[in-house]
Amino acid sequence: MQNIKTYIEENQQRFIDELIELLKIPSISADPKYKTDVVKTANAVKQKLVDAGADNCTLIETAGYPVVYAEKIIDAKLPTVLVYGHYDVQPPDPLDLWHSPPFEPVVKNGKIYARGACDDKGQMYMHVKAFEFMHKTNQLPCNIKFMIEGEEEVGSANLASFLVANKEKLNADIILISDTSIIANDIPSITVGLRGLSYLQVEVTGPNRDLHSGVYGGAVANPINVLCEMIASMKDENNHITIPGFYDEVEELTKELRAEMGKAPFNVDAYKKHLDINEVHGEANYTTRERTSIRPTLDVNGIWGGYIGEGAKTVLPSKAYAKISMRLVPHQNNDKITALFQKHFESIAPKSVKVKVIPHHGGNPVVTPTDTVAYKAAAKAMETTFGKTPIPAREGGSIPIVALFENVLGLKSILMGFGLDSDAIHSPNEHFGIFNYLKGIETIPYFFQYYAKSGK
Ligand code: BES
Ligand code: MN
Ligand code: MN
Repeated sequence: MQNIKTYIEENQQRFIDELIELLKIPSISADPKYKTDVVKTANAVKQKLVDAGADNCTLIETAGYPVVYAEKIIDAKLPTVLVYGHYDVQPPDPLDLWHSPPFEPVVKNGKIYARGACDDKGQMYMHVKAFEFMHKTNQLPCNIKFMIEGEEEVGSANLASFLVANKEKLNADIILISDTSIIANDIPSITVGLRGLSYLQVEVTGPNRDLHSGVYGGAVANPINVLCEMIASMKDENNHITIPGFYDEVEELTKELRAEMGKAPFNVDAYKKHLDINEVHGEANYTTRERTSIRPTLDVNGIWGGYIGEGAKTVLPSKAYAKISMRLVPHQNNDKITALFQKHFESIAPKSVKVKVIPHHGGNPVVTPTDTVAYKAAAKAMETTFGKTPIPAREGGSIPIVALFENVLGLKSILMGFGLDSDAIHSPNEHFGIFNYLKGIETIPYFFQYYAKSGK
C-alpha cells in the first residue's frame, strides 16, 4: 500500500478534528429527547462520505432512525466489501462520574474522551478515512459499500426488515465491521465470536397499592423481597443458571479448543486491579475469559421499586421491577431463551404476587470462520501494520445484526475492531486511543488490498 503512513502523518490532526466534530453531537438512540441530534448525526456521516468521495450517499428511512448508505462501485467483476458501523451511542449516565462532559470531546494522554469515541463513532470513522485515502490516491482495489445505522445501541429492531427490503442494494461478498476490541495494543486480535442477547423486563405486583410497612408488613408479600428471591434462585451455588432447558443447546467446546483459546494472553491480576475488585466471580470450572466469551450469563441490569428518595419512608411497595439480560452462546436462540425465561419466571412466582415478563430486544450469537480468504486478508493486514499475527478471539458483547447478515443476506462478517476492553465503552469516560484510531485507518486499506487480490 503506497503512502498510507505518510498520508496519516500529514492528515492526522484533521482526522482527529473531524471525529471530534461527530462526537459533539449527542446521538443517543435510547432517548427520544435526542431525536434531532440522532438525525443530525446521520446527515453529518452522510456528508463525510460525500467529502471522502463516495457515490449515492443517502439516508434510507426505516421505521426508526435512518441508515446511512454510500458506495463506490469501480467494477462489477471485482469483489464488494460492505462496511457496517453505527452512529448512535449509549446514554452517558451517570454524568457526575465523567471527568469532562461526554459530548465535549477532549484529547488527553493520547486518547480522545467522549461518549461514542470508541463505540462506535471512532471505529466507524476509521473506515471513512481509510476509504478517503484509497479513493484519493487511486488505490481502491475493489467495490465498497457503507451501511451505517443509528439503532445498534437499542437492538437494531428495524434492521431485519431493512435487510430484506434492500437485499439487492446490499449485495456484497463480505461484511467488514470495526465495533469490537483487540487484546492489547501490542497483541492484535480478530474477533471470531460474539454472544447473543435476550433482554427483558420483569414486573412483580403485590398489594394493589403501597402500604404502611408497619401496619401490613409481615403479613403481605413485599414484591421487592419476592423479586430479589426469584432472581437469586436463578443461579445455583456453582453460578449455573437454573432455568430449565437453558443449557440444552449450549455448544460445549472440546478440551483442545479450550486449551487453544486459553493461550491468548490474559492477566487476571491486572484485570482485578483495573476494575478494583478483590476477586473475580462466575460459573465454576471456567476461566474468566471463558466466562465472558463461550459461556452464557444472566445479569440484572437495573432494579427498582418502593421509596428511593431522600431520608426514609416506611412503605411496603405495590410493585417491583427489574431489567434482565442474558448473553447467549452458540447454538442458543434468543427467542427460545426468552420464552424459557418467561415460563420459568412465571412458574417460580409465589401465589402472593402477580408477575409480568416484557421481552425487549435480542439477537443471536455468531461464530465466524478463520479458514476463509477474508479472514486471512484481515490477519495479513493486521500482521502488516502491527508486526504480529493477530489472535482469533471470541468476545462477550453482542452485535445483533451480524447473525442477520448471515441469515438474511447470506454473508459472513469480519470483525476487525481496534478498541480495547479498557476503553470504558458504555461507561463514564469512554475513550479511544489515537494510536488505535490511526492504526485502524492504516490497517483497513491493507485488508482491501489483500482481500481484493484473493477475494470472490
Ligand atoms: N460494540 C458493541 C458490542 C461489542 C463491544 C462487542 C465490545 C464486542 C466487544 C455494541 O455497540 C454493543 O454495545 N452492543 C450491545 C447490544 C445491543 C443489542 C444493545 C451489547 O453488547 O450490549
Ligand atoms: Mn458498538
Ligand atoms: Mn455499544
